Amino acid sequence: MVRAVRGMRDILPEQGRRWDLVEGELTRVLQRHAYEAIRLPLLEFTELFARGVGEATDIVEKEMYTLADRDGDSLSLRPEGTASSVRMLQEHGLLYNQTQRVYYAGPMFRYEKPQKGRYRQFYQIGAEAYGFAGPDIDGELIGLGWACWQALGIETMVTLEINTLGSSEARQLYRTALVDFLTPMSELLDEDSRRRLETNPMRILDSKNPATQALLEKAPKLPDFVDVQSLEHYEGLKLLLDAMQIPYQENPNLVRGLDYYTHTVFEWTTQDLGSQGAVCAGGRYDGLVERLGGRPTPGVGFAIGLDRVVLLHELAEANAKAPGQDRSADIYVCVTQPDCSSAALVVANALRQALPKRRVRQHMGGGNLKKQLKKADACGADVAILIESDALDQQTLTIKHLRDASIGQETLAFDAGIARLQQY
Ligand code: HAM
Repeated sequence: MVRAVRGMRDILPEQGRRWDLVEGELTRVLQRHAYEAIRLPLLEFTELFARGVGEATDIVEKEMYTLADRDGDSLSLRPEGTASSVRMLQEHGLLYNQTQRVYYAGPMFRYEKPQKGRYRQFYQIGAEAYGFAGPDIDGELIGLGWACWQALGIETMVTLEINTLGSSEARQLYRTALVDFLTPMSELLDEDSRRRLETNPMRILDSKNPATQALLEKAPKLPDFVDVQSLEHYEGLKLLLDAMQIPYQENPNLVRGLDYYTHTVFEWTTQDLGSQGAVCAGGRYDGLVERLGGRPTPGVGFAIGLDRVVLLHELAEANAKAPGQDRSADIYVCVTQPDCSSAALVVANALRQALPKRRVRQHMGGGNLKKQLKKADACGADVAILIESDALDQQTLTIKHLRDASIGQETLAFDAGIARLQQY
């Protein structure tokens, strides 16, 4: 039997429902913030990522799936979406003299060592904004991420870390100072860091090696190099986060693994997924449009790692529900007499339309009401709707509250019934 390629994800039917739900919630949050959908190609010229993400990054150096096209062009499966989104908007003249707020979703490819939460084909939902220089858009994007976690009920499981890298000139000065400091002691660095000293020295700050971390204690610190303008931008962002009541931690070692960042960088992390703790990451990349051949245009954005967010959502639900309950539906429509199954179909569809966030399951296959209510309970529904043959004529809803004995059962006019169900 031919098996799946290592690290390429199969999403099985039992997981598919959760993926749809999580993707749906996140997309709705993005749309409510008036971001517009774009779709990016899976394949781009390798040069786009080499110039955009950076030659010396792990992604470009060793993680891309690169192939030669039949005419000899070097193409790569996209390892991320930011460079492509700049390429696309630039190519279609959508960055000149205008602002843009866009989002995209889909698989990305990186040849990394697979483990739980880290795959070679993984999924991102990314948001990018162009043409806005102030910290207010950084705040909007972080607020957007927060709204995503709230929509999924996982906001208590994630922590926001922020930092500023300063202007690209400030970064350059810091890079030189770090190399000058570490070069005389390069023998003492771990192998990866020694290599990075030549290629991408700021990534050494990310090293998990304790001996390297000890050496870094006395190293020059990035915040001492950050320019005044960047600090003002950063202070502005912190005020906005305070105003939105979004908790955050400042992490001066947060540098990010892609080369295009300047000024603000941020990451949402969790303690609940072991070593793969970053669930969303992003920042400002004011120089990228220019680096890819366009006019200077500020840019900022983030990408959510969907695989990890789905895992978190599953954990949150497992923590919340009683053992043994599956929570596959919210509302269960019961058929009290055999002749009312067509009324049940009509009511179930009306409920789905009126309550787009609720999962409505209709009972199939007969059986008395007691048996149907048992099924409603087993699938974790909060309420059962009891359909009687005159339900359509009467325009009423009979609601049985399965988790709240104090209300029990009530019959309400259809609109009042919908309002009642909205409380769940
Ligand atoms: P990134 O930090 O490389 O940033 O990836 C963003 C998120 O994608 C990570 O925080 C993680 O949740 C998820 N992710 C990355 N690699 C994997 C993997 N191998 N398996 C599972 N999940 C993964 C970017 O990609 C930037 N383009 C983000 C950005 C957008 N910055 C500005 N705009």
